[in-house]
Amino acid sequence: MTMQTTRQPDLIYLREIVQSLSHNVLDPTRDYLFESRLARLLRNYEMSHIGELVERMRSRHDADLERAVAEAMTINETSFFRDGRPFELLRLELLPRLLEKRQQARRLRIWSAACSTGQEAYSLAMLLRESFPQLASWEIRVEGTDFSAEVVSRAKAGRYHRIEINRGLPARNIVRYFEHVGEEWIIKPEIRQMCNFRQADLCRTPLPFFEQFDIIFLRNVMLYFSHEMRRKVLAEAHRLLAADGILFLGSSEQPADMSLWNPILAGGTCYFTPRSRTAS
Ligand SMILES: C[S@@+](CC[C@H](N)C(=O)[O-])C[C@H]1O[C@@H](n2cnc3c(N)ncnc32)[C@H](O)[C@@H]1O
Repeated sequence: MTMQTTRQPDLIYLREIVQSLSHNVLDPTRDYLFESRLARLLRNYEMSHIGELVERMRSRHDADLERAVAEAMTINETSFFRDGRPFELLRLELLPRLLEKRQQARRLRIWSAACSTGQEAYSLAMLLRESFPQLASWEIRVEGTDFSAEVVSRAKAGRYHRIEINRGLPARNIVRYFEHVGEEWIIKPEIRQMCNFRQADLCRTPLPFFEQFDIIFLRNVMLYFSHEMRRKVLAEAHRLLAADGILFLGSSEQPADMSLWNPILAGGTCYFTPRSRTAS
C-alpha cells in the first residue's frame, strides 16, 4: 500500500458503511485502524490505497465489497476462558443448580452470541465435558454466531495457532481436547460436535432461533453498538433466554434497559437473570 493519506470524507464514508451494515459505531479517534484492517482487502482487489476503494464503492453499489469492508472492521479479539470468573461461577454454582432443574428434559442450550473465532463456545463445551461428565447422555448444544463470515469459518475449523492456545487455556485442556498438528492445535471431535457455528447479525431481529437458551454469553460486542441498538439486542436476548436462564455480559458492560434484568453479583463477577415482562 502507498503512504497516501486517507481523506476525511473517505473515512466518514467508510464509517457510515460499517455502521449501516454491522451497526458498529467506529470512533473517529481510531480512524488509523482502517489502514491496517483494510490492507488485505485492498490487496485482494488489487488496489493501492483507501481512496481508490472508496471511489469504487461510490461509483457503483457492490454489496459484497461493502460487506467485506464491514467485516474487516470488526474487532475479533477473544481468548479461551476469557475473564475466567464467569466460567468458574458456572462450574461451581450456576450449572449444578441449572442441571438440577433440567433433570427431566436432559437438554441444555447455550449461546455464544458474537462468538468470534470460537474460543468462547469451545471453552463452554470443554467446561461441560470436563466438570459434568454425567451430561454425556444429555442433548447439549453450544450455538456460536457472529457477523463476520471469516471468523465463523475459523470457529468451524477449530484450528488455533500456538499463540492463541497459550492465551487462557489450562495445560490439561490442551492435552485432553486438542490434536497438535505442526504449529496448530485442532479441537477434538468430542468438543467440536457439541458446538454449532453460523453467521448471524445480532442487530437483525428477530434472530432465527426457535428454542430458548439456558445460558447466553453476550460479551464484548455491545460496546460497539449505539445505546438504542444495545436496548434492541438486549430485548432480543431477553426473548431468547429461558425464564430461569442466565445471561453474562462483558466485564465492562451493563444492560441498556435494567427493567428487563436482575443483576446478581457472585464469584467476583456479575450475571443477569430475566425479569418477567409483565413485571417490568
Ligand atoms: C471482541 S469480539 C468478542 C468475542 C467474544 N464474545 C469474547 O468476549 O471474547 C466481538 C465480536 O462481535 C462481532 N460482531 C460485531 N458486530 C456484530 C453484529 N452486529 N452481530 C453479530 N456479531 C457482531 C465481531 O465480528 C467480533 O467477532
